[in-house]
Amino acid sequence: MMFAPSGPGLFVAAISDMQNSLAPAGEQAGNIANLWWIYFWVLTAIFVLVAIFLFFAMMRRGRRSKVEGAAGQIEHPAEPRERRILGVVIGAVIVTILILFVLLLIDFFTGRAIYALGESDMGGGDSLEIKIIGHQWWWEVQYENQTEPSKMMTTANEMHVPVGRPVKLNLESTDVIHSFWVPNMHGKKDLVPGHPTSMWLRAEKTGTFRGQCAEFCGLQHAHMRLTFVVDPPEVFDHWMEASSTDAPEPGNETERRGQQVFLSRQCMMCHAINGTNARATVGPDLTHIGSRAMLASGAIPNTRGYLAGWIVNPQNIKPGVRMPPNTMPSDDLNALLDYLESLK
Ligand code: CUA
Repeated sequence: MMFAPSGPGLFVAAISDMQNSLAPAGEQAGNIANLWWIYFWVLTAIFVLVAIFLFFAMMRRGRRSKVEGAAGQIEHPAEPRERRILGVVIGAVIVTILILFVLLLIDFFTGRAIYALGESDMGGGDSLEIKIIGHQWWWEVQYENQTEPSKMMTTANEMHVPVGRPVKLNLESTDVIHSFWVPNMHGKKDLVPGHPTSMWLRAEKTGTFRGQCAEFCGLQHAHMRLTFVVDPPEVFDHWMEASSTDAPEPGNETERRGQQVFLSRQCMMCHAINGTNARATVGPDLTHIGSRAMLASGAIPNTRGYLAGWIVNPQNIKPGVRMPPNTMPSDDLNALLDYLESLK
């Protein structure tokens, strides 16, 4: 964060803070942003120097050819002048090698700083472990619970972490290669089927950030977003508590009918709603879908109209998505919407 808000503030402010690796909100992204700015300023300085030297060289050459033209003959450059030029070239090569070496060192130490989190101060009791599974085209997020495995909580496309606490993300994919990337938090990490991997991060600022799959994974790769929320610890605990409970029972007759629609149609073949018979894991867990800000992996906002459009014909919104169209009488659809919206 050496340069972050002050120097190139204008540039940074022009871009949304939501998905911006130059507006770090975590320790690892801070290291990456610093590295970026160091390279930016060093390379800018070199570019400007080269441009200045080139400019003067061209001016000189122009003057010299005029003089030579007038004399009608090319004079042999004096010996000492050639030696001077050789000295300058050798000096410039040495300076270039030195600069490259210093950049290499800075790069190396940045890498060390980024991965230090996983090696040293981790493993302590206060770290949080979250499993992230990439699917075409959505994110499954599982909060592991070592002490009480029954309290493992599963959600989709929206994850919360507490500010200041080390988080270990265990990354997996079930189909093709995806890449987990929340630019404000950390660099990219590929999710390769059959090769689970992990990454550590520590968020330093609260807020809502956006992640994006960063490896082309099919037709809807661009619509594979993730909402990444950093909460104050007590807000996070409250969210965990609320998310770990079973879905609320239907509160009225319409919601009850909506639940019946859900359980009697093909919805339950793919989705789970904890506390009901729906336990499939093909599609996102819908136990608390009413509390999420976005639908369809960030493709559309979670409003009644969009939800209805999504249920009736998902292919309209995300062509190629695995979810089939669901035509149903409008009464059934309205009841289903009431029920899903009640799942907070
Ligand atoms: Cu998943 Cu791109």
